[in-house]
Amino acid sequence: MTLGHNGPVTHDRSEALFARASAVTPGGVNSPVRAFRAVGGTPRFIASASGSRLTDVDGRTYVDLVGSWGPMLLGHAHHEVLAAVSEALARGTSYGAPTEAEVDLAEAIVDRTPVDQVRLVSSGTEATMSAIRLARGFTGRDVVVKFAGCYHGHVDALLASAGSGLTTLAVPGTPGVPETATALTRVLPYNDRDAVSALFAEEGDRIACLITEAAPGNMGVISPDPGFNQFLAQTCADHGALFVSDEVMTGFRASRQGQWGLDGALEGWAPDLMTFGKVMGGGFPAAAFGGRAEVMAMLSPVGPVYQAGTLSGNPIAATAGLATLRLADAAVYDRVTEVGDAIKDAADKALSDAGVPHAVSAAGTMFSVFFSDGPVRDYDDAQRQDTTAYAAFFHAMLDRGVYLPPSAYEAWFVSSAHDDDAVAMILDALPPAAAAAREAARA
Ligand SMILES: Cc1ncc(COP(=O)(O)O)c(C=O)c1O
Repeated sequence: MTLGHNGPVTHDRSEALFARASAVTPGGVNSPVRAFRAVGGTPRFIASASGSRLTDVDGRTYVDLVGSWGPMLLGHAHHEVLAAVSEALARGTSYGAPTEAEVDLAEAIVDRTPVDQVRLVSSGTEATMSAIRLARGFTGRDVVVKFAGCYHGHVDALLASAGSGLTTLAVPGTPGVPETATALTRVLPYNDRDAVSALFAEEGDRIACLITEAAPGNMGVISPDPGFNQFLAQTCADHGALFVSDEVMTGFRASRQGQWGLDGALEGWAPDLMTFGKVMGGGFPAAAFGGRAEVMAMLSPVGPVYQAGTLSGNPIAATAGLATLRLADAAVYDRVTEVGDAIKDAADKALSDAGVPHAVSAAGTMFSVFFSDGPVRDYDDAQRQDTTAYAAFFHAMLDRGVYLPPSAYEAWFVSSAHDDDAVAMILDALPPAAAAAREAARA
């Protein structure tokens, strides 16, 4: 039992499930951030979801600002996505042979983005892992460059942290990743052109690819400096390396085309490879990597670089993704922008009024609130947050029926299903939550 703002609130069923889950699954969850460790308390076990709302097993309903960590652009259980999926289910769930749905989904991605071809996979991790293998196979080089604080899934070579001092040599970011797996990875500070130029000057002829989130969303949301992605693409091109834009989170979310559409599209360059996930799977396990025809031609069975998957292009996932992309028209992005702007402005005002140091940060329709003074341009800045203040803020919002990401380092995801009632609930909850954050910061 916890004390909600309207008196005691019980979470008996979530607590019971969490106890059962913890006995059979490490930490009781199948992906770490769900465990609420960064904010404390018992994770809510979700029974159902519809539109902008989640309902937990204790019968409490929340306005959802997690959106399954990005996929639910249209909100939960969109009737047209459900109808398409139901129809597909009746025809069987997996064949291990090609289907029309895969072709339709690949065409929808190719239509909207600068890639010539895509290969469908089942998770964002698989997409980035495969993109890197392909970049290495295409260039015949080994070194991979990434930015500190960017997350590309749990690929061994990318679970790398910056080494000590000014060195760009990476060290394993977690036990279980051998030093040999990160020995060919270089980690640079985000938005730092000088660091990029210096590394390419020194090692450019060994670099297979540079991978970056099109706009980082995994250390909170950080906007690339104007022209930064274009600079990265140009630097890679100058040295014969591939530029890999990881759009697993931004793709079809930050804008209709992804962050790429906000920055590079107008300036005459395109990534060599891109990765997608989340929205394009419509809430099912689907992801993709794609790129220039010449690079994709290196992929098996056309070329020598091996890659495969039992459930790749699964017809149910492809159907859900395709329905989502087809429904994601300009009106959807307008609504997501409108809702996001209302929340950003209200959060900014509530935290300012309460005297809580903060910075609202956005890239396209993606945004988050840092609990530190801005500006936030890289991982060092992001890490200056007062996570204790965020935890108090999070729980005060949760008590008032708003489900925020259970970590200060995550984007807040809205959907086109966030109606005016949902927005009003969020706006009402913000001032008292800001006051709770201020109390926690003082304590
Ligand atoms: C930018 C980015 N790349 C890759 C991934 C990994 O995707 P998945 O969790 O589907 O493996 C994520 C997941 O959050 C992501 O945000």
